[in-house]
Amino acid sequence: MQMNKLKIGVFGGSRGTSMMEILLRHPEAELAAVCDKYVPLLDKAKKKAEENEQQVAVYERFDDFLKHPGLDAVVLANYANEHAVYGIKALEAGKHVMSEVLACETMAQAVQLIEAVEKSGKVYTYAENYCYMDRTFEMWRRYERGDIGEVTYGEGEYVHDCSSITPQITYGDPNHWRNRMHPFFYCTHSFGPLMTITGLRPVEVTGIQARIVKEAFKRGLGSLGGGPAGIEMVRLENGALVKSIHGGLKREPGSINYEVYGTNGCMETQRYGQENLNVYKEDGKVCHGSLETYIPEKFVSPEMAAKFGSHGGSDFFPTHFFIQSILGRPEGKKYGIDVYKAVDMTIIGILAYRSCLNGGKPVKVPNFKNKAERDAYRNDNACTTPEVAGDQLLPLCAGADQLPKVPPQAYEYIKQLFLEGKQYTEYKEF
Ligand SMILES: NC(=O)c1ccc[n+]([C@@H]2O[C@H](COP(=O)([O-])OP(=O)(O)OC[C@H]3O[C@@H](n4cnc5c(N)ncnc54)[C@H](O)[C@@H]3O)[C@@H](O)[C@H]2O)c1
Repeated sequence: MQMNKLKIGVFGGSRGTSMMEILLRHPEAELAAVCDKYVPLLDKAKKKAEENEQQVAVYERFDDFLKHPGLDAVVLANYANEHAVYGIKALEAGKHVMSEVLACETMAQAVQLIEAVEKSGKVYTYAENYCYMDRTFEMWRRYERGDIGEVTYGEGEYVHDCSSITPQITYGDPNHWRNRMHPFFYCTHSFGPLMTITGLRPVEVTGIQARIVKEAFKRGLGSLGGGPAGIEMVRLENGALVKSIHGGLKREPGSINYEVYGTNGCMETQRYGQENLNVYKEDGKVCHGSLETYIPEKFVSPEMAAKFGSHGGSDFFPTHFFIQSILGRPEGKKYGIDVYKAVDMTIIGILAYRSCLNGGKPVKVPNFKNKAERDAYRNDNACTTPEVAGDQLLPLCAGADQLPKVPPQAYEYIKQLFLEGKQYTEYKEF
């Protein structure tokens, strides 16, 4: 008997394209609907479905999309700071939810999201694809196998100067989340893999901000290029320390780099020449061990995974594990990132920014699995988005009052580039 495929809808037609590609070709799911308020993206989605000899329903409004007949699940690839808000709506409507990064924008949302998942009994999966790159996934497997012993220190790095693609990813909108969030908030690409590799949760965080390039603000590239990189120093529950850094530092190609030191050796990726993984192991001999350098291969559903190349092949896994979780398969439970882990990965950035604004004083990371720890955060809306924060609004970055305001002409220029389909290729100050 042929099993009915899961009907999954994608909300957000830009990044959401990656999930659409997978759903159009996954044997156990189908792309049932797509929602975006920007109509050209809906046309693109329809075309993509037709190329795969399928049809997809399209919606401009989320509430209509949610009512699509028979929809089982929703993928959130909308604005990064609005996932909790829409995720809760979808859970309340009885849908399983997969969320792109970030899980939430505020501590209050973190609590609301967890409670919505608990109440609904539905699957929530966090699409932190950086945990499933060939090297980070292999580090997860080898750590679990005990190859380097127990973690003592680790580093995660996501350096991405988005200056050139600013027109394509902000459209020149001064209120786009990418123009209003401190990089601290976007912390899960760098920190997330350290959590999945080690299986440990964070308990305390200290935040520090790198030097700000003031000219970047005059160019309209404030938060994205040359803006203040955020650095989190995170204490894990076993006492190990992790440094997580992310932001628009100058480097091409961007850096995606991870290091884990353990009681018996270490594993590290390579900063330039990115495919290799290095694993050093001591097997009982003091300061003597073996070094392996190799390109890891996929080990979970490798044949299906190999069909999808974006983000180093990692994009396939969150959607696949989401489907496996809904279908109750052990693979989904083992590798899918649940709401508690998603929130832990996300709130270290929110709290690190507070630490940074408070001179680098360490901040405790609450464990929201524990219901008693939730109440203190129910009205904690502090963030950099005025409509969300209300009277708890935080500045754009530490020292924001010393920075030049982004001139409106800079946003106009970026908007023009977007409309002309061009990238930002030469610096212009206004
Ligand atoms: N994991 C990764 O590697 C990766 C890479 C890129 C982006 N992302 C994430 O994907 C998400 C989307 O990013 P993006 O790059 O596509 O840019 P984006 O945030 O600008 O795009 C969001 C899309 O959602 C649509 N949208 C937002 N709110 C809507 C609403 N209320 N109704 C209808 N449509 C709405 C917008 O029109 C837009 O097309 C973000 O959360 C981002 O963090 C992740």
